[in-house]
Amino acid sequence: MYLRNAWYVAAWPREVTNRPLARVICDEPVMLFRGENGAPVALHDMCCHRALPLSFGRVIGDRVQCGYHGYTFDRTGSCVDIPGQTLIPEHARVRSFPVVEKFHCVWIWMGEPNAADPAKIPDIWWMDHPDWKPSTPDMAPLKCDYRLIADNVLDATHLTYVHPTTIGASSIVEFEPLIEHTDTTVRISRWMMNRPPPPAYAKAGDFTGNADRWAAVEYWAPAVCVNFAGCVDVGFGGPKGDIKASPRRVELVAISLPTPETAGSCHYFFAFARAFRHDDPEMDHFFGPGMVKVFEEDFSILEAQQRMMEKYPEQKRVSTIYDRGPTLARRMLDRMIEAEVGDDA
Ligand code: FES
Ligand SMILES: [Fe+2]
Repeated sequence: MYLRNAWYVAAWPREVTNRPLARVICDEPVMLFRGENGAPVALHDMCCHRALPLSFGRVIGDRVQCGYHGYTFDRTGSCVDIPGQTLIPEHARVRSFPVVEKFHCVWIWMGEPNAADPAKIPDIWWMDHPDWKPSTPDMAPLKCDYRLIADNVLDATHLTYVHPTTIGASSIVEFEPLIEHTDTTVRISRWMMNRPPPPAYAKAGDFTGNADRWAAVEYWAPAVCVNFAGCVDVGFGGPKGDIKASPRRVELVAISLPTPETAGSCHYFFAFARAFRHDDPEMDHFFGPGMVKVFEEDFSILEAQQRMMEKYPEQKRVSTIYDRGPTLARRMLDRMIEAEVGDDA
């Protein structure tokens, strides 16, 4: 069960061209293309004639022509041409989905079209701000429930074990996290003061000794997680510190945008942005392909969890204090879905 009335990332803009792109989103087959005016279009990926996916066809200007018998559909999904026939039945149409390009993402609305408000697109402003330099965004098709990704990033204690050579440091559990939430968001944050920074940050910021380090993550239901991470010289961190005044500073966000494909698979869109050393190609690599490697360390874990959970669905699971964040997030999402289903009924 998915939250339908929500914006999900359907694709990175570079993926949407004048060739059909097929993607299953929330169990619905969708085809995306870019029309003549450059705006993305998303249609149900099934011809209303004999069910061939429209993505087997071709884009002609602002329209898509089915690859079987040539029925042609406009960007609203209406059939506008049936070869050899002038009368077009009124019900000859496919569903179209609201799509908006913003923050270097193509967002899709899978719910009630009239409720699709572009003002509600998650505000991942770091992707589009002169003080922040985004990496080339990436997408990993993963065989796991998209909710496992929020579970993963909301529990930073995994960093020590999954990412020991990059962003992990054993000091994480020494510092109690602060957990805050609203009806649709969870935020978990902690400062780790005067401790050795993790290997990746030590290298990026030329830290030789200890540093003040922060790690925070926000979950915005249903499918956005933003990790805030970095470190500064000792004395410049902490809730009242002035990180911008620190002689050395590593500051980045990692944005996770897992879009459900099916109950057991997702399109894991992700990107990084950093607020320091913009013109340093070494940092471009470090916080581009280098961070992708860090994320890849999670992928095999997420898919292995999924396999076990599918095989042993009844297996009881233990929870501890560090599961508070993920548990809050799951409950919040469940409540939102229940409310949406209730509204529909
Ligand atoms: S299946 Fe599309 S035109 Fe026949
Ligand atoms: Fe991780």
